[in-house]
Amino acid sequence: MSKHKTHSRLPRSKGIDMGTCYTPEECEKKVKRIVLGQTNQQIVEEFITIIGMKERFEQYEVPIPNKIVMFGPPGTGKTLTAFYIAARLKLPLIVVRLDALIHSHLGETGSNIRKIFDYAKATPCVLFLDEFDAIGRTRDHFDEAKEMARVVNTLLQCLDEFEGDSIFVAATNLEAELDHAIWRRFDTKMTYAMPGDKDREQFIHLHLDGFEQDEPVHQAASELLAGCSFADMEQIILKAKRKAIIEHRPLRFTFIEEAYSEYKPNVQ
Ligand SMILES: Nc1ncnc2c1ncn2[C@@H]1O[C@H](COP(=O)(O)OP(=O)(O)OP(=O)(O)O)[C@@H](O)[C@H]1O
Ligand SMILES: [Mg+2]
Repeated sequence: MSKHKTHSRLPRSKGIDMGTCYTPEECEKKVKRIVLGQTNQQIVEEFITIIGMKERFEQYEVPIPNKIVMFGPPGTGKTLTAFYIAARLKLPLIVVRLDALIHSHLGETGSNIRKIFDYAKATPCVLFLDEFDAIGRTRDHFDEAKEMARVVNTLLQCLDEFEGDSIFVAATNLEAELDHAIWRRFDTKMTYAMPGDKDREQFIHLHLDGFEQDEPVHQAASELLAGCSFADMEQIILKAKRKAIIEHRPLRFTFIEEAYSEYKPNVQ
């Protein structure tokens, strides 16, 4: 499936696309089994409601939010939420390729950042920048701190000037590494955590309901998977389903146990 069919060409750096574009339909497919948790669900719903009431907000001269920052451990749904927001807003999602954006040559990173923001200003989309802290840490890639300050300044300027119908979404595992001035620019902040009991159960239901089982496995699976991230749970459940499929048998708890010990999740 072509990912670029309906969109103007993405900005390029050294001849390479700086991002991947997903259509709203592609985004929709990815988020069928999302578990957001009550607080984040509320934040997203409010955000989407506001976007849908643009004119009313203009009338009151209250700016609408358009910059979201997500913070939390790996595998808890930050990237997935970017897909979800794009699907809900029926906007294409541009996932920026950080390796194409960050450049060791003077000025090149800043100019790439500008290009990608200019694109988002001109083309309604959800612009998603993962590992956002890497921009705040570009110091490692440069000889001069001065150059680093310039990159951060460019980013601040781009954030300040970001307007129109696009949404900017940034995600990071390392909240502390982010420049404070950048952090302040975001109107919407979402925090992610490892799944609690309720989230885990909901996730297990979403993945197991509808898959043939010869014994109820939900309860035991939920106990076994305690402490896993959503990403780990997903991998283990998929592994267990594969085992059931190749053996032409319904799913049973032993498949999940085997999958767990083969996958070896990093559980604290
Ligand atoms: N909250 C969630 N609900 C449903 N599935 C999830 C959730 N979080 C993660 N997953 C699943 O785990 C995988 C990784 O999720 P995702 O990429 O969103 O994590 P992330 O928080 O962005 O991690 P990282 O910090 O490593 O970028 C995806 O395949 C996704 O389907
Ligand atoms: Mg991610």
